[in-house]
Amino acid sequence: MPKYFAIIPAAGFGSRMENQLPKQYLPLSGKPMIYHAVDTFCRSALIHQVFIVLSPQDTQWQQYDWNVYDEKLTVLYQGGATRAESVLNGLIEAPNNYPVTAQDWILVHDAARPLFTQNQLKHLIEAVGDDPVGGLLAIPIADTLKRSNSDNCVAQTESRDNLWQAQTPQMFRYQMLVDALSNNTHQNVTDDASAIEALGLHPKLVHNRDYNFKVTYPQDLELAEIIIKTRNNP
Ligand code: C5P
Repeated sequence: MPKYFAIIPAAGFGSRMENQLPKQYLPLSGKPMIYHAVDTFCRSALIHQVFIVLSPQDTQWQQYDWNVYDEKLTVLYQGGATRAESVLNGLIEAPNNYPVTAQDWILVHDAARPLFTQNQLKHLIEAVGDDPVGGLLAIPIADTLKRSNSDNCVAQTESRDNLWQAQTPQMFRYQMLVDALSNNTHQNVTDDASAIEALGLHPKLVHNRDYNFKVTYPQDLELAEIIIKTRNNP
């Protein structure tokens, strides 16, 4: 039976947050943002091991106490210049720390999606099942889409039919993901699924009906704080 592993690339600097602290460490509900995703994966019995990919220059991780997760957490200081490079570096390094085989599932999750829960994890794993390609959490686009011209005026309205917003986790077999990212780190690959798609494959879109947005702008952090508070005190 294939095993399930999580890998969290957290080697970015989050320039859109207007903050000196890399966004994965911004305080959220009394913890650094990355803690929330780490906690969901580490507490799940479905997940065998959790790999965190940090920048070699990271000075923040060790400021916090991660002992509660003990051996389930492996930290790799192998972050690269892009997200795709960070993920690939982590994937290549992971088997040196823990036995990972070609057919094992890898769930890649952004440190900046702190609202990811155990239920979402179970839903993704069940929906993907033993799909030969893999899949990702996603939501159908709700807003009307405008394409802008160079003056930030509307050039045209785009159809939103069949358009989805990709989220994470995105789950693929270890070897397929390594092969896909090895071919693609030089291109503008902003998620793992696009590297798989470049191989001519079609990852499954798994509709996520819960909050799991990426914290990108300062107002996202405020909303995430409210949602966590409400979930804790319904
Ligand atoms: O910047 P963005 O929000 O798209 O980053 C998504 C995730 O990828 C974040 O968790 C970020 O830390 C990570 N990342 C990385 N290495 C980079 C750039 C981003 O691990 N060079």
